[in-house]
Order: sequence, then structure tokens, then C-alpha cells
Amino acid sequence: MSKPPLRIGIVGYGFMGRAHSNAYRRVPNFFDVPYIPVLKAVCARNRARAEAFQQTWGYESVETDWRKLVDRKDIDVIDIASPNDTHAEVAIAAAQAGKAVLCEKPLGRNAAEAKVIVEAAEKAKTPNMVWYNYRRVPAVALAKELVNEGRLGRIFHYRARFLQDWTISKDLPQGGEGLWRLDVSVAGSGVTGDLLAHCIDTALWLNGPINSVAAITQTFIKERQHNLTGKVEKVGIDDACAFLAHFANSSQGTFEATRYARGHKALYTLEINGENASIIWDLHDLHRLQYFDHRDEGKLRGWRSIHITDSDHPYMKHWWVPGLQIGYEHTFVHQVADFLCGLASGNIPGPSFRDGLATDYVTDAVLAAARSGAWEKVAAS
Ligand SMILES: NC(=O)c1ccc[n+]([C@@H]2O[C@H](COP(=O)([O-])OP(=O)(O)OC[C@H]3O[C@@H](n4cnc5c(N)ncnc54)[C@H](O)[C@@H]3O)[C@@H](O)[C@H]2O)c1
Repeated sequence: MSKPPLRIGIVGYGFMGRAHSNAYRRVPNFFDVPYIPVLKAVCARNRARAEAFQQTWGYESVETDWRKLVDRKDIDVIDIASPNDTHAEVAIAAAQAGKAVLCEKPLGRNAAEAKVIVEAAEKAKTPNMVWYNYRRVPAVALAKELVNEGRLGRIFHYRARFLQDWTISKDLPQGGEGLWRLDVSVAGSGVTGDLLAHCIDTALWLNGPINSVAAITQTFIKERQHNLTGKVEKVGIDDACAFLAHFANSSQGTFEATRYARGHKALYTLEINGENASIIWDLHDLHRLQYFDHRDEGKLRGWRSIHITDSDHPYMKHWWVPGLQIGYEHTFVHQVADFLCGLASGNIPGPSFRDGLATDYVTDAVLAAARSGAWEKVAAS
């Protein structure tokens, strides 16, 4: 029996437009999903480029105004893969139009914006998810299983870093295409909302809520030419951020993100130290999980480097034979697969919009703590 279609309208054809489109196309080839995604329309303001994207990825049509996309009756899901300043407007209109909404991270440029999105989605009872895709790296999903099974025992430490080096040049402009991340009015914040948001979402998922934070931020290059105005303007984003966290489970966290760590491109690492066992994961080696269990026989005790390619590992039975690994793009395929199954069962797995708000509450508290120099409480979502 043929499966029902789920008609996708996507906003944005950039980095994430490609990652999501690839996921919709691949998912029915590898997962027994209850709906078949149909690439109905891509929306972006530049028609010629949107048409080129339509050709490459096989979308049926193009829109240049997201409002038209949201109004279309032949679309079931609005997928927001555009910069942060578009998320609230599009997500709220899409929820009010009765669409399911998948939104890129961070959900809002700040928690106030994210809260309005959550309220609109919950009022409309619309299925929703935020694309915090790192939860669906098989090694990270295995870490979640190990934590849930209680193997680590009481957790003492959570440690995460996300290091890049692409904004070191003072000649790099801010704003506009490709560089909207440096424009605080579009991005909301710098590395805190961009990179640390990923670390925080994973941390809340693996280790539970954060109660309070203390932080420092830095803006190393204070002025940059703005691509849209042509003028040299103040830089409003944080270039680097480090914060300390008290988790509700009484463990302590250290988090750091920067775009000034020369040599590092996307070094997202996390480590959890428990009473019995520890785990380490590294995005540059994403198919491995390092695991140390103190309860192992003494003479054999040591770090295990687990190659996450076995059919016992999360998601891996859908791919190749043991020993053959997968990569970054597959995390998006996994998210779509889980979303489609959740849609059929009526139980959409996280990260929900409310989970996205929880992360925004932490990033707001981190930025507030950096300004005040004091510990700041994190609001509960
Ligand atoms: N989950 C992840 O790992 C991850 C990675 C990168 C980016 N992101 C998030 O995805 C979003 C997009 O980032 P990106 O790197 O793909 O950006 P990008 O600059 O590569 O692409 C943005 C796209 O949005 C389009 N766009 C901008 N304003 C628009 C509007 N008003 N209407 C329609 N289209 C519009 C642009 O034309 C472009 O196609 C951001 O929120 C970002 O934080 C998430």
C-alpha cells in the first residue's frame, strides 16, 4: 500500500536548506517511515537562485514571499531554514495556518521571542520540532542511552566546547548574505546563540536542567564594515563566551565557544564524568564514543573507543553493515525519520519548541551573567 505524502514547504536554500532537503529525499530510502516527504516548494527572496535550488533538489515550485508559502493549502509542513530574525514571524504564521512547523535553531533570537513562538504553536496544537540535530548523532544518542541506564552513576561534571576560527580576520565584513551571523540584529547574539545553543540543548537533554550560570563574553573585533549599509559599524555579537553552570542534579558544567580558536573548524566536544563512568564525544570523530567504566576488571580497565557502526547502536541498523560509518548529514535524516514516526503515533519526540525555549532561557541567562558579572538564575520553560 502506498504511503501518504507529507508536503514540505521550506524557507531558505542555504546551508540548512541543503541539509534538510537532503534529509527529506533520503529518509524513505533508508527508514520505514509512515509518510513520504514531498518537496512541494522552496521559498527565498531571490527567484533565480531559488529556481536553481529547485532544479538541484527537485522541488515542485518556488515562492519568493514566505507569506504565500504559509498560505498555500497544498503544504503540510513549513520548514524554517532561514536566518534567526525570520524564525518568529514565519513560525507563528505557519502555526496559525495549521501547518506542522520545523524550525532551525536557535528558536528565537532571545527567550522572549521564543516564548511567543511556543505559545502560538501550543495554542494551535501544531506538531513542532527544533533542528538541534546533534541529539541524533548515533554516538550522542548512545550516550543518552548510557546515561538513562544509570551506568555513569551520580554525575559530577558536564563539559562542552564548540570552537571555530572563521571570524579572526578584522577585514571580514558583517551582515548580509553568508555573514548575517555577525549582525546582532539578525542573529540575536554571537557564539552564545549560535554554537553554545547546540551545546546547551545537548546538555539539557543528557544531564537535565541548569539552575544558574556565571559567564564571560568577549567581542575581539569591535567594528566591522556592514555589507548592507557599506558603513563601518559597531559589532554587537559576542565573539567568544565561556560559562559555568550549576545543574539541577547538582553536577557542575563548564561551557566554551569561540570563533577565534585558530585551527579549529567545528570542534564540538562534550564530556560527562560520573561516579562510575565517563563518556567523551567529539564532532570531528563523530562516529566514536569514548567510554571509561571504573567497574571494569582492574587489569583491563581503560578508555574504550567504541566505533558506533553496529546494528545495536542507535539508528545504525538502517544504514550499512557493521564497520561502515555515516556522517553529519545523516543526523538530519534521523530527525526527519523520528518526526514522521512521531506524527503518525501522535507523540513527536524532542527537541520541541518548548525545549528550544529552554535553551534560549539558558543563553539569555548566560548573556545576562556576562553583563552583570554575577551568577544569574535560569528561568524554567
Ligand atoms: N542545526 C544546525 O546544525 C545548523 C547549522 C547551520 C545553521 N543553522 C541555523 O539554520 C538557519 C539558517 O542558517 P544557514 O547557515 O542555512 O544560513 P544561510 O545563510 O546559508 O542560508 C539562509 C537562507 O535563508 C534565506 N533567507 C533569508 N531571509 C529570508 C526571508 N526573509 N525569506 C526567505 N528566505 C530568506 C537566504 O536566501 C538563504 O537561502 C539559522 O537559524 C542557523 O542558526 C543550524
